[in-house]
Order: sequence, then structure tokens, then C-alpha cells
Amino acid sequence: MAEINASIDFDRRLYAQDIAGSKAHAAMLAAQGIITRADAAAIAKGLDEIKAEIEAGKFKFQAALEDIHLNIESRLKELIGDAAGRLHTGRSRNDQVAVDFRLFVRDYVDQLSAGLKDLMLALAEKAEANAATLMPGFTHLQVAQPITFGHHLLAYVEMLSRDMGRFGDARARLNESPLGAAALAGTSYPIDRKATARALGFSGPTRNSLDSVSSRDFALEVLAGCSICAIHLSRLAEEIVIWSSSQFAFVKLSDKFTTGSSIMPQKRNPDAAELIRAKPGRILGAFTALAVMMKGLPMAYAKDMQEDKEQTFDALDNMALAIAAMAGMVRDMQPNRQAMRAAASSGFSTATDLADWLVQKLKMPFREAHHVTGRIVALAEKKNALLSELSLEEMRSVHGAIDASVFQVLSAEASAKSRKSLGGTAPANVAREAKRWVKKLKGK
Ligand code: ARG
Repeated sequence: MAEINASIDFDRRLYAQDIAGSKAHAAMLAAQGIITRADAAAIAKGLDEIKAEIEAGKFKFQAALEDIHLNIESRLKELIGDAAGRLHTGRSRNDQVAVDFRLFVRDYVDQLSAGLKDLMLALAEKAEANAATLMPGFTHLQVAQPITFGHHLLAYVEMLSRDMGRFGDARARLNESPLGAAALAGTSYPIDRKATARALGFSGPTRNSLDSVSSRDFALEVLAGCSICAIHLSRLAEEIVIWSSSQFAFVKLSDKFTTGSSIMPQKRNPDAAELIRAKPGRILGAFTALAVMMKGLPMAYAKDMQEDKEQTFDALDNMALAIAAMAGMVRDMQPNRQAMRAAASSGFSTATDLADWLVQKLKMPFREAHHVTGRIVALAEKKNALLSELSLEEMRSVHGAIDASVFQVLSAEASAKSRKSLGGTAPANVAREAKRWVKKLKGK
């Protein structure tokens, strides 16, 4: 029983939030005349001492005392005597743990948002420096059209900014104080829930005592946000794995973010990227575990809910780590401009530009232009040449009306430069967007 019941091994992480919640509660009890000011002062002083003991590694956590709440209360009794017994007036461990966990998740969301902001800045700065760096854009991982490296990086900035928005939305919804809901039904003491909510930085108290002690959707929502963010990071991580392979050689990571092999001396393994790629497993796992644990639970609190913590902690820790590692890797990563440019010109990547030229210059219907372009591509393929390397005569052998101005659109540079539509890859667009992001992320 002791072994299955105790949570102190993991909920000790909530000590700071537990102490903050208790101090707010004690101060409110005194202000309302429910306990004396002297008792409240002794409680606050004792709690500060306990916090210092925990942070100095001197606190003796005891499994026999089950959880962080009872461990702290028991130590408080040793330190200040009977006054400690008055702290739990008008409250229960059910609202206590609910407030602790909300505060913990709220603090972590702020940390994740700060980390994301730094990662977005790293990406935007790299994008600004590579606004005109050509690379192939892919669909189906087949060369499609030339784009710029900066444009590709800014795609992730957009994804991450939505992740940040999701964290912000979740934070606003979770920022209500369940303290004072007591065990499940509220309390007969004349408590002031608005005062404790204010003291703990909540926007106000929750409105229903049953909901207050039995809901964990605030954590689910943050884990859902983490799951999506982890998926985004895993996509970028996978691209870095591909780009840094010797077959692609689009980017180079330094020794700081790669490891050697114990047997093959030439290896530079992108371990950080691979580990980030792996993180959605445990992060989605945490979401799933909490969702399934909550499913079908009757009102109000049940001990099942003690299992909300371990995997949430693990998911948040790993989310923060993945974000930080990705920011480091993005700053470290150096593009190989020649290899990227060569790849951007390969695979007849400007075939669409040729078709568009036929439409615009020769007023051909797009379907016909698509067909003519296909025949020119086949010819280039046969000659083992790029489209831009075919002679005018060779072009004309497919369609007689083609003139020399066609060559202006066949280079990868010209192709990227022409894509000036809103949100398109033209270097001028990318430079402007990157600059806008850098300014926004650095600014207040
Ligand atoms: N350790 C418990 C948890 O994490 C605290 C609440 C206990 N409440 C109770 N009625 N036994 O959920």
C-alpha cells in the first residue's frame, strides 16, 4: 500500500508551488480573521525555512508521509508547533494539488514560450543571412522548383509561432485559481478566493468547486500544444539529418552538435537532430497517458489523478530540451551554398518556368505549354543537359516560335527571383520577411 500510494518521489518537484500556495492561503486566512496574524506569520516564516532546506538539499523527504503536501506540513509542525495545524483550515489536498500543478504548468509554459522565441530568432537570423541562398524545393522529396534556404527556414518560424500561440491560449485558460474549492464542495469558512487568486497571479478564481478539483484539461491542452510543437521540431530535425548526409551535403554541423563513431572514424552523426526527431514518441505518449487516465473518471477527485504528474513533467522537460538543442543546432548549421545551388538547378527544376514562359510569351494555353515543356525536358534528359544548356535550335526543334528570351527564365536564380507573389520565395520577399521576424522577436 505504501509503495503504490506514495507520490513524494515525483511530486517533490512541486515544492515551490506548494509553498507559494500555502503562504497565500495562510495570509488570506489571517486577513479574514480565520486564524491569528501571529499564526500566519509563523506559518510563512516556517514555510520559507522549509523552502531553503529543500533548496539546500537538507530536507528529509519521507515516503511514509505520502506526498509533498504532507511532507511539508509535517516539517512545519516540527518547526513552529501547533500553528502548523491551522494552515489546512478551509482547504484540502485536492484543491492544494490542483493549484500546485496549475502553477507548475503555467511557469513551464512561460519557459517554453521563451525558448520558442529564441529558436524562432535563430531561424529568422539564419533566414536573413540566406535570403538569396538557392536550394531545391521538394514535393514527394523529388526536386520540384528552386527556392531559397531562407524561405525554407521561415516556414518553420511560421509553424513555431502558431505553437507559441497555442501555449499562450492554453495559459490564458488555465490561469484560474482552484484554491478554496476544498475537498469538492467548497467550505463553510469565510474565505476570500479572489485574494488568494490575486496573490498567486491568477486572473481570478475558478467558478465551480467540483470542476476545480477534478479537471486536468489545462495540462492536456499544454501537452497537446507540446505534441504539435514536437512534431514540428521532428520535421526540421529530419530535414537536418537529410541535409547533413553526404549524399545531400546541403549543410554542415560542427563537432558541437555531432558525434563520432566508435568504429568508423569518418562519421559525423547528427545525434542531436535524431534525438529531437524521437521526442514526439514520449511527448504524445504523455498526452495519451493523461487523456486515457482522465477518461471516464466520475466527479470529483479520485486518486487516479495522482498519475497526472510524472509523464507531464517528462514531456515538459523534453520539450524544453528539444527546443534549446534545436536553437543551438540552427545557429551552428552552416549551409553549403555550392551544393545547394547545384541541386537547385538539377532535376529540371525550372520546367514550370519554361511552361509559364510559353503561356506568357506565346499565349499558349497552360495545358499545351505543359506538354511542350515535357518534350523539351525529354530532349534535355536524352542529351544529359540542364534546360539552360540546350541550344535555341534544339528548343525550336520542339516548338518553332521559341526565341532566345526563353533563356532568361531557365536559371534557378531567375526562377526563384520571379516568385514574388505574397508568401513566395523571391529573395526580396524572404529578406523582407526575415527582417520583419527578427525585429519582432528582438523587439518589445
Ligand atoms: N498526492 C495527491 C495527488 O497528487 C494529492 C491529493 C490527495 N488527495 C486525497 N484525497 N487523497 O493527487
